[in-house]
Amino acid sequence: MAHITIGPEFFAKAKNDYGCWQWAIVREFMQNCMDAPRTSSIEVGIEEKVIDGHDKTVLTVANNGEPMSRDVLVDKLLALGGSAKAAGSVGGFGKAKEILYFCHDSYQIETGTFAVLGRGAEYEIDEIPMLKGTRSTVVIDGAVKASLIAMFDRFADECYWQGSLTVDGTRLHCKRDVGENVRTYDWGEVFAADMESPEDDGRLLVRIDGKPMFRRSIRAAKDVIVELSQDSVIVLQSSRDSMKYQYQQELNCFIEEIAIDTSSSLRRKDPEVTVYAGDKLGLTIPDGVDARAEMAFLIEHLPKADFRRQVAIAASSSQQVKATAVRVSSLGHEFILKNSFKGATPMGYAPDEFNRYARSVALSWTRIMLLIWKLFDEQLDFSVGFIFDPDRVAEYDRDAVNGRVFYINPFETGEEGYEKRISRWSLTTRHKWEMLATAGHEYCHYAGFDYHDESFTSYYTLKVEPVLHHHSAEFAKCFKNPRSK
Ligand SMILES: Nc1ncnc2c1ncn2[C@@H]1O[C@H](COP(=O)(O)OP(=O)(O)OP(=O)(O)O)[C@@H](O)[C@H]1O
Ligand SMILES: [Mg+2]
Repeated sequence: MAHITIGPEFFAKAKNDYGCWQWAIVREFMQNCMDAPRTSSIEVGIEEKVIDGHDKTVLTVANNGEPMSRDVLVDKLLALGGSAKAAGSVGGFGKAKEILYFCHDSYQIETGTFAVLGRGAEYEIDEIPMLKGTRSTVVIDGAVKASLIAMFDRFADECYWQGSLTVDGTRLHCKRDVGENVRTYDWGEVFAADMESPEDDGRLLVRIDGKPMFRRSIRAAKDVIVELSQDSVIVLQSSRDSMKYQYQQELNCFIEEIAIDTSSSLRRKDPEVTVYAGDKLGLTIPDGVDARAEMAFLIEHLPKADFRRQVAIAASSSQQVKATAVRVSSLGHEFILKNSFKGATPMGYAPDEFNRYARSVALSWTRIMLLIWKLFDEQLDFSVGFIFDPDRVAEYDRDAVNGRVFYINPFETGEEGYEKRISRWSLTTRHKWEMLATAGHEYCHYAGFDYHDESFTSYYTLKVEPVLHHHSAEFAKCFKNPRSK
């Protein structure tokens, strides 16, 4: 029977399958070596060379575990999708070989009495004097020694392993402790430890059997380590750079809980939050005309909506809130200002003194959020507000005091604050769609996608964006001045 030919171009793309291929190659080599039965020592050598006028890096990884049989070598390691690993061990995708061997200039694998010399899908196999263990040598394009060393350091730093690991002559310690067990899922144990670097954000580290798979920052003043208990094929995506959606969702909920507990220590500058009283937004509107009904009314774009009525509503509710010394929003609905800068709120941006620009941004943003609420059939109440922060265009936030809040930043500002501000939303067509996309983006955060990872992107592109496009005519009306026809 004929075979499908796999050319070198196929493997050349393997590096693109990973967020960081240097991390992937280190992680996959370490896993294979540590998983090899009876490995107690791993030695890594990294050497940069110029070959035929080109920079190359020769990486050698050797372990003293049980060597491979010819069958495992040929039918598992040198076969796409092949894996000899039982459930429970790290591996089983049979994908790693692409990044370990096939995508590089050339590779050599010596194991027991066999030596393989190969390039892409082509290789030769020879017999050699017995080697106690397995040694892989790959010639990698480019001078990448420094980045590989950094990745080995990181791996050791995040790993717990009893054996001895030496990289380029330096013994690395693999003793990362997990901290306190804080949660048990049927797919893994979650631990929380004090942060390694308290000035940064917290870090989520996902490991299997003590071996780090991937990490990312989290908005918590803790490091969170997850030890997966299931076969990694079930829990992880095949790149092992992230978890599958359902597991990630569960974990996100937990991280959000920790983030809420520690939120004050997470913010760069402890932003000041001012609440302007009014009704919460949402589409479950009680009988009678109130501020929420007014906003729903605006969404339905009845063009004759009289803006002054909203002012009147706010005024009538002001007596009861005055006692608590909260200023009242002239919009009728609750409006919250979150200021990361040291100075006071800029003039004209508090809802009881809005200038024309601030009012139009606030109204458009509110109406977009309400329309999104309606289209996605959301029921929970929320508030809107402005955020003044150099790093954020918008933000979805949820806390025990203010509940769910969708903030939008009216300015483009630098670190110097809003002294040098530029209005971000000129409400040209381009800016309108940017604001709409921003709202969709924050809605994804509300929907449980805390991180800008794969699952966030697919939710936005598959679930949110099509709705925004489909209803573009209705959204366009959110930008209309409610007083004009
Ligand atoms: N250094 C090694 N020592 C001993 N056996 C090895 C070594 N490296 C690989 N193997 C064997 O080769 C098989 C294939 O390895 P490969 O890394 O391609 O896949 P895997 O580890 O099973 O799965 P994954 O693609 O998820 O890493 C392994 O299952 C293991 O039996
Ligand atoms: Mg492997």
